[in-house]
Amino acid sequence: MSAKMIDGRAFAEMLREQVSLEVARLKENHGITPGLAVILVGQNPASQIYVRNKGIQTKAAGMASFEHRLPDTARQADVIALIERLNADPTVHGILVQLPLPGHMNTEAIINAVDPSKDVDGFHISNVGLLSTGQKAMVPCTPLGCLLLLRDHHGSLTGLNAVIVGRSNIVGKPMAQLLITADCTVTIAHSRTRDLPELCRRADILIAAVGRPGMVKPDWIKPGATVIDVGINRIEEASRSRLVGDVDPNAAQTAGAITPVPGGVGPMTIACLLANTLTACCRTHG
Ligand code: GUN
Repeated sequence: MSAKMIDGRAFAEMLREQVSLEVARLKENHGITPGLAVILVGQNPASQIYVRNKGIQTKAAGMASFEHRLPDTARQADVIALIERLNADPTVHGILVQLPLPGHMNTEAIINAVDPSKDVDGFHISNVGLLSTGQKAMVPCTPLGCLLLLRDHHGSLTGLNAVIVGRSNIVGKPMAQLLITADCTVTIAHSRTRDLPELCRRADILIAAVGRPGMVKPDWIKPGATVIDVGINRIEEASRSRLVGDVDPNAAQTAGAITPVPGGVGPMTIACLLANTLTACCRTHG
């Protein structure tokens, strides 16, 4: 039996349509346009593509998009001064600093300079604390997208065993918080975990977020499990580049449902960013 493909592209399109309708209603009834500012420091090629796509989709949803590009020679103080200007700007409801930052910058200091109410990435220490205590927080976009796909597929997640492979601040840890709040039994695995295949085989929900192409093998998957592949790895093959996930595509023979790469989690991330920007705008304006 082959797994059901979870169509993140279609779900993200539906979410973006909902956001666009709400943005139009805000404009019409209150004269408010939600605005998202994105800061890109340096020339990282993947980051440039992400930032361009964010700008395109922000405008397509009817929001204002502000892009700030700084050279990789910029000083940390320059980035923080820009963030402070955006914090004080009433036309900006969301601020995103594209990661990774150049090596000479302190990522935590920069993230924590963003006003928590405009922190649409959910990376500010206040939002991390709110999420981990089950309070109203800005939720990081990729884990939020995964949760929406899981809820759509399963309905209730209560009592399910979830294994998350990867302990990053951007995906693994916030994903664990969301799944705990959804009443799953959660395990976070990482590069030092013993007998990872055996642990993964206990998962009803397996989330792969390690950034290693095809690392999760078909025989690591419990028959019928739901597999969420967060990996977006660009590999060169026969002088062509293509995107592959962290999960071996043959896992679809064992899983009950699986997100493809591309077309699974990826499109959900930007859709959730737009939803977070709308949420930030609505909270500001009561
Ligand atoms: N780089 C890779 N993923 C992300 C993300 O979700 N947010 C930001 N700001 N940078 C990233």
